[in-house]
Amino acid sequence: MSDDVTSEIKARLSLSTVVGRRTKLVRKGRNDFMALCPFHGEKTPSFHVMDDKGTYYCFGCGEKGDVFTFVQKTENLGFREALERLAAEAGVTLPEQNPEAKQQAERRQTLHEVLEAACAWYEAQLKTGAGQAGRDYFAKRGLTPATVARFRLGFAPPGSTALKDAMIARGFAPALLVEAGLLRQPDDGRPPYDYFRDRVTFPIRDARGRVIAFGARTLGDGEPKYLNSPETPLFHKGDTLFNLNLAREAALKCGRVLVCEGYMDVIALDQAGIAEAVAPLGTALTENQLAALWRLAPEPVLCFDGDKAGQRAAHRALDRALPLLKPGHSLRFLTLPDNLDPDELIRRDGVAAMRIAIDKAVPLVDYLWAAELATADLTTPERRAAFEQRIGRRVFEIADTRLQIHYREELRGRVRALLARQRPQRPQRQPGYGYGGGMGRGGGRFGGPPVPLGASPSLRASRLARGENIGGDSNEALLLLLLIRYPALLPQVEEDLIRVGFEVPALDRLRSELLSIPFDAPDLDSDRVKGHLADVGLAETIARLENDPFLAMHAGIRDDLTIDLVEEEWRHALALHFRRILRAELSEAQATYDAAPTESNVRRIQAIREELTRIESQGSRNRD
Ligand code: UTP
Ligand code: MN
Repeated sequence: MSDDVTSEIKARLSLSTVVGRRTKLVRKGRNDFMALCPFHGEKTPSFHVMDDKGTYYCFGCGEKGDVFTFVQKTENLGFREALERLAAEAGVTLPEQNPEAKQQAERRQTLHEVLEAACAWYEAQLKTGAGQAGRDYFAKRGLTPATVARFRLGFAPPGSTALKDAMIARGFAPALLVEAGLLRQPDDGRPPYDYFRDRVTFPIRDARGRVIAFGARTLGDGEPKYLNSPETPLFHKGDTLFNLNLAREAALKCGRVLVCEGYMDVIALDQAGIAEAVAPLGTALTENQLAALWRLAPEPVLCFDGDKAGQRAAHRALDRALPLLKPGHSLRFLTLPDNLDPDELIRRDGVAAMRIAIDKAVPLVDYLWAAELATADLTTPERRAAFEQRIGRRVFEIADTRLQIHYREELRGRVRALLARQRPQRPQRQPGYGYGGGMGRGGGRFGGPPVPLGASPSLRASRLARGENIGGDSNEALLLLLLIRYPALLPQVEEDLIRVGFEVPALDRLRSELLSIPFDAPDLDSDRVKGHLADVGLAETIARLENDPFLAMHAGIRDDLTIDLVEEEWRHALALHFRRILRAELSEAQATYDAAPTESNVRRIQAIREELTRIESQGSRNRD
């Protein structure tokens, strides 16, 4: 189409007029409007319309385009149809289409017509005497007549030219029937014959509800179980989602969309009142399918069968999705119990069980973590390093830089917590410090009396206290530097220092060296402590601590600091250190639980939560 016509339409018809019919616009400037995005569910407006440029952009889901793409997407139209509609509205006359394009459009139209005719014919066959087998099959699968009608299910009779004869009688040419994927053309020159025979039929419809292909299932155990139309000018498997036409509205309404593996799953869900389900057509999710899903909801829920094939499909979906993730643009993963598919679960346990399962779908980050963990071997330093490297590579696949940063931060925490647990000589890992057992006596997971949380005003306002990530080992470093600067503190905190373990090996060494100093010596001062530590090869570690600007802020020598205040700071940092470990452990425990929802994993999460609550409530009590 010539640029003249499109720009003429754009000049006459403001984008805000067209968009305003779909979603309520709020004016932000002379030519600027904001609105709730019509392409994804949201509660606060992030859809920006710029009339002067004639473009829109959604900060939430990334949808962008002009008046033509807007009408195409919201009305499910092709470009030509959108153009015709907008031209009529703008009062612009379209030049005649060139003959070739016109012929192509007409051909598509006839393909649509023949597929529609075939669909109606299969539906009619289901109601005949020959269709008894099909009716029995659907009844056995628990489908009501209303569901059969809603999905336009049908029956392809056993004969090899039944559909062919019926379509030719209606005036469709055999060549067209072949092109539509309804007849198979044998290589040896024999005449074409019916593609689907003696199977129940599931029409596959495009987003506008037009029939573009069929899936067809054997009534018994024949192979293949499902036969799908071949690729045709109208049907591209990788661009199509079964039931998108019906699921679209439901999904936009509830802000959720479910992706299952099979036709029967989608249909059973719909019959049970969950209309927002679609299925790819027996292949891994493609980029185009993911894009279509993200237009319906920010976090499509992928529901794969628990069998090997299902899990492989889930992994492939994860691989596909990683590079495409964006802020507010993710996936959730759902594996149903006992290797059931949604159809089977609903039949066995009812739709309530399905709804509960959907609510428990795990975020992509947890699924990724659990998947990597499942194959991880952490028994040697080399293997632990390889694991860390592999996680890093997965994160690197995320193309969106901001999101990649957040993923890296999250997974680094999980890796640290996990690896800390792998090291055998971790003090808080030894028997007796675990969850359960000693918990009841009020000693808590780390033993000993509760850690008092009293922070000096300067520390309370610090980044550290606000819980911001300033590198995992800052608390460890601060705890050590305070002791080096104020050795008089050593006797007071000796017990805690014995009990606590540090993740950074160099710092953990410094910790144990500090404990070996005879600190009841009368002339013990900072220089002596440093001298001792330098003697055992830790001069460089100390220098690094002393030169860290963040630490200097908190552990700087000040005359007005009484030893009580220093101790307060020290204990506060210790509490933060525990809290950080617990939080990392909690997210790791949750991932473990998601992968294996066992009783003991539940108890572990509860124990960590209780401990966290204990530490955090002390914090707030002391800050009052
Ligand atoms: P499943 O084998 O999981 O089938 O295939 P299902 O949906 O549970 O089928 P029922 O319940 O036995 O009827 C899932 C999907 O994979 C595709 C189909 O799209 C099917 O819905 N498939 C499966 C094929 O395309 N061909 C096959 O032979 C099998
Ligand atoms: Mn099934």
